[in-house]
Amino acid sequence: MKIEYPDLPVARRREEILEAMRLSQVVVVVGETGSGKTTQLPKMAVELAEALGQKGRIGCTQPRRLAATSVARRVAEECGVEVGGEVGWQVRFTEVCSKETRVKFMTDGILLAETQGDRQLRQYDTIIIDEAHERSLNIDFLLGYLKRLVDRRKDLRVVISSATLDAGRFSEFFGSCPVVEVEGRTYPVEDVFLEEFEGEGLREHVLRGVEYVTDLDAEGDVLVFLPGEREIRECADLVDGRGFQNTEVVPVYARLSLKDQERVFRPSGKRRIFMATNVAETSLTIPGIVSVVDSGLARVSRFSPQRQVQSLQVEMISRASARQRRGRCGRVREGVCVKLYGEEAFERCSEFTDPEIRRSALSGVILRMLSLKLGDVREFPFIDPPSPKAVGEGWKTLEEVGAVVGKGEVELTETGWRLAKLPVDPRLGRMLVESERRGVFEEVLIIVSGVSAMDVRERPQGKEDRADEAQRKFLDEKSDFGVFLNLWRGVGEFQTDKGKFQSNQLRRWCERNFLSYRRVREWLGIHAELRRSFRKEGAEGKAIETAADVYAEVHKSILAGIPRQVGVWDKEKRLYHGVGNRQFAVFPGSGLFKGKRALWVLGFELVETSRLWARKVAEIDPRWVEEVVPHLCRKKYHSPYWNDQQGAVYGTEDVVLGGGGKGSVRLVAR
Ligand code: CDP
Ligand code: MG
Repeated sequence: MKIEYPDLPVARRREEILEAMRLSQVVVVVGETGSGKTTQLPKMAVELAEALGQKGRIGCTQPRRLAATSVARRVAEECGVEVGGEVGWQVRFTEVCSKETRVKFMTDGILLAETQGDRQLRQYDTIIIDEAHERSLNIDFLLGYLKRLVDRRKDLRVVISSATLDAGRFSEFFGSCPVVEVEGRTYPVEDVFLEEFEGEGLREHVLRGVEYVTDLDAEGDVLVFLPGEREIRECADLVDGRGFQNTEVVPVYARLSLKDQERVFRPSGKRRIFMATNVAETSLTIPGIVSVVDSGLARVSRFSPQRQVQSLQVEMISRASARQRRGRCGRVREGVCVKLYGEEAFERCSEFTDPEIRRSALSGVILRMLSLKLGDVREFPFIDPPSPKAVGEGWKTLEEVGAVVGKGEVELTETGWRLAKLPVDPRLGRMLVESERRGVFEEVLIIVSGVSAMDVRERPQGKEDRADEAQRKFLDEKSDFGVFLNLWRGVGEFQTDKGKFQSNQLRRWCERNFLSYRRVREWLGIHAELRRSFRKEGAEGKAIETAADVYAEVHKSILAGIPRQVGVWDKEKRLYHGVGNRQFAVFPGSGLFKGKRALWVLGFELVETSRLWARKVAEIDPRWVEEVVPHLCRKKYHSPYWNDQQGAVYGTEDVVLGGGGKGSVRLVAR
């Protein structure tokens, strides 16, 4: 393979970078997007390895599949070799590499998986962690792993590449290793703030932004940043329909087909309006952008301790992200960045995007660490170590759902291994696993995806009564989880034989019932994704079920995920009394708020305001708790007496949930 460098900022610093790599095992390279980090650093690593007579591979990680494959193609082209030869790639399910492969691009998940089989990553001479500023859990795991590994393998070189300026932290983390800062060459960019008009939706707002930049320059390519695929499709339709002269709209998101990916990098002769998620923020350089339209929004996965779910939410981006988006123009000539938000809103944004470890439930993090054999979370070198309190709660959750066994030397149970592979919080995953065993997978899948999405029911101001009235038919007076099943049945009416939905009819039905169509689609999306991940696990939903048992089995499955959230009615306090002396009230929106008082309930989504409220409640039989989580129950015997007839001692057996002492709840006496 021929090693030549195009005229790019990173290439201009080649000598310095190679020198740093010779002198230090770990080097941090910081440079703006488009400066050549991803495409040029691997070639430098090859050059150095060859000079030193090393024959191993250069491994380059990318946070996204799309970047891994497209960059491999680009580098292969620059080196005049075939993809899969000296330059190859690997992502989940596909590997295009061979014995000849010297440079391997892969997602960070793949490299993490490789640590399982090859603890010292012996096949690599050099590992480049690209896009380290993204600070996903995978990246944090890899950085910690490599920090330990460089001490054990003195021949291993590591390059950390980052697009933002907080590189000092990486350097500090790796014992003050050298940092090479590459300055980009840029032209001035003008900032324009176009705030939303009242009543204007995102689509119209985006169109207004595109019209604004078109008025200034009707030929330059535009890059629009949107939070997700669906928004891209909706906005693309509207902007396309506007019929700009000699213009095409090109979507850019992580799940693009290979053909559509190629289209992004191939000029078409027309003016192009790219509509992208934050995949185009730093990991993918789209050449020739003259203006940027920034919605200021991104889909962010965040754990909500109250709702107890990890879910994707659309949020305002950080200022660091906004600067990255802005920096996508002004690379070829002067640019303009239209921001679809006000200057004050921008000032209120956080400085940097939270690293993923700060947005995740620790139970899931610990579970993944155990499955990756990364060792004790408290000893692992994290750039931002989680708080001991959060770690403690994470452990407790894993014990509750039966994912771990043992004290001191902890191991994953079979259930734990399964939960580690599911793309949901361990509690919700546990419900799904239990439901398979109990033959109610379909029902629990609907419920779990339902709680993961936002509530589809709306109560518009001034129309609360009408909304309540329209939605009364979905209520279930024994279980708020039943609401999901009722709603699902309604939605299902609009599904055709081929599985597609009749969107217009579904939309009208949603309007009539004060349901958010957008959230219903989100729910359907999560449902489909979860089902796919279960298929891959090879699980079969065995069909049993007699109608009468469904309720019990569904709620036992839910109980398996949140076993400590049972409560028994306390007549005096007029509250539910739960484990750990926790008392909660039923939220007014619940189907169990009025009507006959259930003696035993399961409470989900405990929300603390003036008091502790359970937003989703269901009536249960306390004996189910003993059946589902015997490991959390204790038996206590008392009041012995001599039974003459039987000639034996009899007594009362109490089954309690909790440690047995204060804060335990007595489930059954027999
Ligand atoms: O990683 P970094 O953002 O620093 O830059 P890069 O991805 O290595 O890209 C360097 C240059 O190569 C950019 O200016 C792109 O225009 C170009 N490039 C391209 O044309 N096609 C690709 N698939 C990748 C990069
Ligand atoms: Mg890059």
